[in-house]
Amino acid sequence: MQKNVDHLRLRLSKENGVNGNGALTNGHKSPLIKTPSDPHFQGNTIEIPASRTSISDSKEFMHNLSGSPSMKNRRPSRNSFGASLPIPRSPRVRTSFGKETAGTRRDLLASQIQDLSKEKVAAAKNMAFVFDIDGVLLHGDNLIPESGRVMELLNGDNELGIKIPYILLTNGGGKPECARTEQLSSILGTPISTNQFIQSHTPMQALAEYYETVLVVGGEGYTARQAAENYGFRNVAVPKDILAWDPSISPWRHFTEEERKGARPQDFDRVNFDAILVFADSRDYATDMQIILDLLQSENGRLGTKSKDPVATQLPIYFSHGDMVMPTEHKGLPRLTQGAFRIAIEAQWKALTGGNLERTVYGKPERATYKFADEVIREWMKEIHNERTIPENIYMIGDNPQSDIIGGNMYGWNTCLVRTGVFQGGDNDEENPANFGVFPTVLDAVQAAVHKELGKEFKLRWSDKIIPAMHHVQTLLAVE
Ligand code: G3P
Ligand code: MG
Repeated sequence: MQKNVDHLRLRLSKENGVNGNGALTNGHKSPLIKTPSDPHFQGNTIEIPASRTSISDSKEFMHNLSGSPSMKNRRPSRNSFGASLPIPRSPRVRTSFGKETAGTRRDLLASQIQDLSKEKVAAAKNMAFVFDIDGVLLHGDNLIPESGRVMELLNGDNELGIKIPYILLTNGGGKPECARTEQLSSILGTPISTNQFIQSHTPMQALAEYYETVLVVGGEGYTARQAAENYGFRNVAVPKDILAWDPSISPWRHFTEEERKGARPQDFDRVNFDAILVFADSRDYATDMQIILDLLQSENGRLGTKSKDPVATQLPIYFSHGDMVMPTEHKGLPRLTQGAFRIAIEAQWKALTGGNLERTVYGKPERATYKFADEVIREWMKEIHNERTIPENIYMIGDNPQSDIIGGNMYGWNTCLVRTGVFQGGDNDEENPANFGVFPTVLDAVQAAVHKELGKEFKLRWSDKIIPAMHHVQTLLAVE
């Protein structure tokens, strides 16, 4: 396989699978990690050819294998796996959050109406929405008001009383899926299941089949560790564990007793890291960059060592998305996010070693993420309509032309750009135009898409009185 996996396997075989490398902590031994390149490997992983590098490539800092962010000038990228990103073969079973809330009364009436409207029902099941979160549904933790109505409409407050499928696909992350969907359910006022939710690092669970000991970077507190452990990584360290072991590793950092409480220090000079995974925005650029650069330059991923040829032995590093900026509550320009952090690491690596950092970037607009989304939609269709199919008419609704829209366009989805987030341009984005159009808000986009698929007369509200023939059902219900 490609360079870094070869590197991992070389290390594992060098140590005969019983010493050091495959194993990690404090001399504990670990089994040899198999990789999908092994002929007898049977895992839950498929590798998706890389479509492009991150949107946030800043040409002056990027190595010559990086792609352009423009659809007009795309090139495939090299990454730690050569030209592919591993994703889970199928979405893993995850814990759902919340209970379905559709009322019995509406369900009963709706099933009668749906029997009479088979074509519309088929059309409603043959469409699906994929929502970006930041800048489309929310600003930070605040609801964009139109989102509430969108949820109602798609959850059954429509002429047919039918659930129109939707999933959430965000480049955000940094905590377990169940924690984020619980938070989203509360803000959006509707239960969001983990089975309809993908955050930037969700597909990176596939990497647990490749790497055992990982440094996970980003997010608040220690929640990113929990996410990685849920994915099956066996040994997960975060920079604060390393700070707790040796605070001098980050000269200007004051590590508080409060922070130390959640840390899991160990003898990190005896641990071999297999890979670095950036799951979310760094909350401490100086410390995180220092530790990342230490590990990238190390001998066999061991802190305190330096490789004789760091460029040749560089530790694999993965970023969960490449967005350069994100919308927040801030009133000025959109705020810098993980793409900016990555570019800084790349520049530092170049300055220190003269080499080009090899890295893999997941998230939108990478094809692997959209492929994973397809599988999630298929499973979600099974859950809400008992039909394991992928609807033909998928609408991606996003605010960032350089991730949501370019990715959706490349994947063959309908794309809608909204004006509530990163995009602040004119009629449409010039480099990556949304093919279904630009809309003031998510509600406008959803209404336009529903009318396109279900007809202009399709009513966007449920009414018990919608079909006179149903009145006897109402009467029966009233009597009960
Ligand atoms: O850090 C970037 C993230 O906030 C973007 O999230 O939902 O717009 O993909 P989203
Ligand atoms: Mg967004």
